[in-house]
Order: sequence, then structure tokens, then C-alpha cells
Amino acid sequence: MVPYPPPDEVGEILITAAEIEQRVAELGREIAHDCADQVPLLVGILKGSVLFAADLMRAIGGPVEIDFMAVSSYGDATESSGVVRIVKDLDEPVAGRHVILVEDIIDSGLTMTYLLEHINAQGPASVRTCSLLAREGQQAPEVQLDYLGFEIPPAFVIGYGLDVAQRYRNLPFIAVYTGE
Ligand code: PRP
Repeated sequence: MVPYPPPDEVGEILITAAEIEQRVAELGREIAHDCADQVPLLVGILKGSVLFAADLMRAIGGPVEIDFMAVSSYGDATESSGVVRIVKDLDEPVAGRHVILVEDIIDSGLTMTYLLEHINAQGPASVRTCSLLAREGQQAPEVQLDYLGFEIPPAFVIGYGLDVAQRYRNLPFIAVYTGE
């Protein structure tokens, strides 16, 4: 049987499963505290945020709802162009809701900036952002980031939702990708 993941494609583990679990629990408590008298609506951005959004939702403990959006950005494969196309929009209107956008990673910040504008235009009661990871030296430092799990160096990473050609999202840790 072929080993999974291939040992030559997974480098240093930057964040272990236990570290993710602990940090997600902290973020859940923080959000629950900040939303004490609210029912926040988590909006997970497909596909990378799926594992994080599911774990974060459990960690919040109190009443919480979830919806998802799917977006695709144009441009070359390694760099976001800032032009974002909505592939799947929200199922329900968010006017009057307390929205928390949930991402797996902020890189240039362009996707999150676009999504903030898109949600804000719908008249929510509030919009906050939450990302498990942010790459150091991101291009748009002005991007609003209310809850952050970890800052990581500018390496290409996989696991816990992050992929290479749709693979490795199910790894329980965040590791440096060392494949081709
Ligand atoms: C990743 C990530 C963010 C975006 C961040 O999505 O999930 O949505 O890129 O990049 P930015 O800060 O430079 O805009 P990706 O396009 O890889 O899709 P996926 O979540 O389906 O893997």
C-alpha cells in the first residue's frame, strides 16, 4: 500500500494536532465570551476552513449557527489576484446578524477584504473575522483580523484543511509541503 501522506512530501510539522486543539478551544471560549448575548453566525469559506469551522463551532459551546460561502480567485495558481468570484453565496440573508467569517489562512488578505465588503453591504449587526493561520508578511496588513490562531512563516503549508491539488486536507496537523 502507498504510504499516506508520502514521507517526501511532508516536511516539518509547524503546528501539531494537540496545539491546534488547544488553540481552537481558546478561540471558542473567546468568541463565546464576546458573543455572550448573541447567536453568532459562523461563515466558513470553502473548502479550506471546513475542519476549523467544525471544531470552532463545537468549541464555542453556546448557541451558534453556521453557513458557508465558496469563492474562487483568478490569477496564477500561487498568488491571489484580488479578483474574487462568488461560487456559492450564503443560504440566508445576514441583515441584523452577528457574522464571523472563518478562514483557514490569510495570505495576501485580498479574499478576506473582499468578503468583508460583501457581507458589510448586507447590513449585518456586526462582522468579525477569524482565521486559523496568517502568513507573516502578508501583503495587506490593514486586513481586519479579530481572531487569529497562529502566525506562520511564509512556507507552503498543508493539513487541517489546507491542500495541494485537493490532497492533504485531512492531515490532523499543519506541515510544510516539500513535494514538487
Ligand atoms: C485559500 C484560503 C483563503 C485564500 C487566502 O483558499 O482558504 O480563502 O486562499 O488567500 P489570500 O489571503 O491571498 O486571498 P484557496 O483558494 O486555496 O481555496 P480552498 O480553501 O478551497 O483550498
